[in-house]
Amino acid sequence: MICMASAVIVIMGITGDLSKRKLIPSMYRLLKNKKIKDFAIIGIGRRELSVADIITGSRKFISKPDASVLSSLENNISYLQGDLDDKNTYDALKKRLAGHAKKGLTNVLFYLATLPGHFDPIAQNLKSSGLSKSSKGWVRVVFEKPFGSNLEDAQELNASIKKVFSEDQIYRIDHYLGKELVQNIAVLRFSNTVLEPLWNKNHIDHIQIILNEDIGVEDRGGFYDKYGAIKDVVQNHMMQLLALVAMEAPSSFNALQIRNEKFKVLQSTRSVDAHDTILGQYSGYGQEKDVAAGSNTETFAAMKLFVDNMRWQHVPFYLKTGKKMKEKKSLIYIQFEEAPGVLFKEGAKLEPNHLVITVQPSEGFYMTLNAKSPGSLDLTQVKMDFCHNCKYGANTPEAYETLLESVLAGDQSVFVRSDEVEQSWRIVDKVIDTSLKVRSYAAGKDPKSATDFIAKDGRKWFV
Ligand SMILES: NC(=O)c1ccc[n+]([C@@H]2O[C@H](COP(=O)([O-])OP(=O)(O)OC[C@H]3O[C@@H](n4cnc5c(N)ncnc54)[C@H](OP(=O)(O)O)[C@@H]3O)[C@@H](O)[C@H]2O)c1
Repeated sequence: MICMASAVIVIMGITGDLSKRKLIPSMYRLLKNKKIKDFAIIGIGRRELSVADIITGSRKFISKPDASVLSSLENNISYLQGDLDDKNTYDALKKRLAGHAKKGLTNVLFYLATLPGHFDPIAQNLKSSGLSKSSKGWVRVVFEKPFGSNLEDAQELNASIKKVFSEDQIYRIDHYLGKELVQNIAVLRFSNTVLEPLWNKNHIDHIQIILNEDIGVEDRGGFYDKYGAIKDVVQNHMMQLLALVAMEAPSSFNALQIRNEKFKVLQSTRSVDAHDTILGQYSGYGQEKDVAAGSNTETFAAMKLFVDNMRWQHVPFYLKTGKKMKEKKSLIYIQFEEAPGVLFKEGAKLEPNHLVITVQPSEGFYMTLNAKSPGSLDLTQVKMDFCHNCKYGANTPEAYETLLESVLAGDQSVFVRSDEVEQSWRIVDKVIDTSLKVRSYAAGKDPKSATDFIAKDGRKWFV
């Protein structure tokens, strides 16, 4: 996609971690790949900082930085030191935007790279300062995740920001939607006619969606402790993966139709309850920096969901995510029905076929089939493998690059609509902020109760 957008990008929270590690490096790549020209960035933060500091802070997150591109990026950034709770900051911003508009930059993108508690106050401040609409160009706004902290909160936030912006101005981020392999799920499903007849309750035994991290909370303890695994990962990334893997084919590949289909799946997904949820916390979590003593926040969650529609009736979707797991791995595992083993060897149990879509760290997908071992009738599993990096190497865009490019092009298909967000919260709402037991687990291991949880259905976690 080539957008060649001309816009002023206002990064609210340019001094923060997200901006340093993702947004500035993504802007660099868009510039380097000539996907953006005629742009300016206005960065807002409270601390004293120079534009050179901003570039220096991001430099190590840019692979093989090209000095001329970096310098061109630097020349297009200005820093506005100010408090986002203070009306004066918006007055100063307005003046700067007017200056850019005089030079022809009339489109404005507000990127809220600040803490979630700021989303609504910033929206209201943009409205009262007259910045939420423009007669000269478009105005768009990006909200980072998490969007809300439970169903009621998300509904209130949606209602409030919709008084300021229309839905077509609003881009709710779920950065998983910017990942290449996540975008590939729909292509894999709907462009390969061998798969579609099998993609239902008649042929699929169950599906697992797994997002394992090998690290702990690192220096995000203060933030994480308020949220936990369900709010930080399950409600957003995992629900979006579930929606993409389970949705019907959209009538066309545009934002409206894709989001309609994802919404329908989420709407058909049963709310999960305590019986189908296991929570855990890695040992030593309570001693992490900025984590409250005696915290009950979960760093691990496993659950079983059902999508109550014709395609998926009775097919379990198992979700599992945790910090300090053995390996960093995000994947979707689709297990097909078992074949009767008797044909080949009396009493032999055949391994079922499975399809695995790997999202990180390596991207790709593979399918296992059974084959005969040489010289005997023993069966062995072989892989039909697609490794994304082996084929496309380092040319793949980063998730945030894709997302920024999309918002500048006005493409909402990789952003989450208000009704999807609310359905996702509805699905997990009964198991958040409860007194559900949080079990301790050692780094590198699932809590035993999570292993038992799937074993009682006669299944096991793929990783
Ligand atoms: N970091 C990540 O990897 C990551 C990943 C996914 C999503 N997110 C989301 O991205 C958002 C930002 O996260 P982050 O990790 O970048 O947080 P952070 O490092 O704490 O940065 C917060 C930013 O907001 C600014 N800020 C806070 N209060 C302000 C105020 N009153 N006025 C002006 N600026 C203010 C801070 O600037 P000063 O300190 O200079 O005031 C800083 O630039 C959050 O919604 C988070 O959930 C982050």
